[in-house]
Amino acid sequence: EKDGYDWFMRKEIFEQPKAISDTLLGRYSPQGELTLDEIHISPETLRRVNKIIILGCGTAHYAGMVAKYAIEHWVRIPCEVELASEFRYRDPIVDSQTLCVAISQSGETADTLQAIRHAREQGAKVIAICNTNGSTIPRESDAVIYTYAGPEIGVASTKGFTTQLIACYLLGLYLAQVRGMKFGDEIRTIMDELEAMPAKMQSVLDHADQIYTLAKGMEDEEDFIFIGRHVGYPIALEGALKLKEIAYLHAEGFAAGELKHGPIAIINPGMPVFAVVPPQGRDQLHDKVVSNIQEVRARGARTIAVAEQDDNEVDQFAEVVISLPKVSTLLQPVLAVVPLQLFACEIATLLGNDVDQPRNLAKSVTVE
Ligand code: BG6
Repeated sequence: EKDGYDWFMRKEIFEQPKAISDTLLGRYSPQGELTLDEIHISPETLRRVNKIIILGCGTAHYAGMVAKYAIEHWVRIPCEVELASEFRYRDPIVDSQTLCVAISQSGETADTLQAIRHAREQGAKVIAICNTNGSTIPRESDAVIYTYAGPEIGVASTKGFTTQLIACYLLGLYLAQVRGMKFGDEIRTIMDELEAMPAKMQSVLDHADQIYTLAKGMEDEEDFIFIGRHVGYPIALEGALKLKEIAYLHAEGFAAGELKHGPIAIINPGMPVFAVVPPQGRDQLHDKVVSNIQEVRARGARTIAVAEQDDNEVDQFAEVVISLPKVSTLLQPVLAVVPLQLFACEIATLLGNDVDQPRNLAKSVTVE
């Protein structure tokens, strides 16, 4: 049932192009309208929303961090992202104009469930983004957007994550449509880009060997650093989380701009630093990350950049460049996370770990 793969996780990484196209299927009409049938919250209610709070744990929380950038940019509603386990213990400000978005692959995570119960008690509407039909979180939500990743067996989430990103983009575009934003043509452009995503992701997967070669010899490293800005920041966090989960290695993700405020002090000669580099030329983001690569390299770090193909600056500064097909900045996380998933899977394999069932972790955590 692993289809010739050594691990479910690796199989699931390679299933992502299909998982994404299944998640997009039937949600955008030829007339250019988003149809999210599972949103049983009236357009009037959605138009009254004045704050969005996104809740999740682990990988799902990072999907929420990406969603904040997209939703605030497209919909112009303030959006908070919070760890589900922190939410209800701090007396959060929630009322009937608040929309909560609960992201959970399993739909059974106790922290997330308790958070949405609290939100609904305060009168908020809750939309679940979930991969498990009929699980508890969607049942206790006002609406649900299902991801169609298929069963995810590896404990470390991969296709769960990328389909959550797709669902978050769909939700953002749907809210923009319902609220009659500027949009229209812009929604179509973004949908076209999303529909091209499975093929682009396939081309990243076709180069998996480059990542495996990179991993060889790196399994003896003790510390790994991941940096990124904007939507690349949650991807840096996710890259580090994958290594912690299955390779049991010390890995940290930082917002690249924070390096100089502390973390750069821990860089030792030879330490691997992965940088998620935004697309070139559209704003200052790219150049800022390239400078951060130079800064860590000057301290002797081994720099590995995940960057857009034909980026003609990054290869001057990064020792290794992993190329991604061109996409807009907000959508880049869907592609940028893939090499980091492959890297963690390969390092854990080289270390002889049980990749699918890492020590101390469970696929769904039903206790708070
Ligand atoms: C953790 C898993 O316990 O729960 C993570 O180890 C996962 O991989 C997190 O991201 C959240 O799970 P879910 O099912 O709510 O998305």
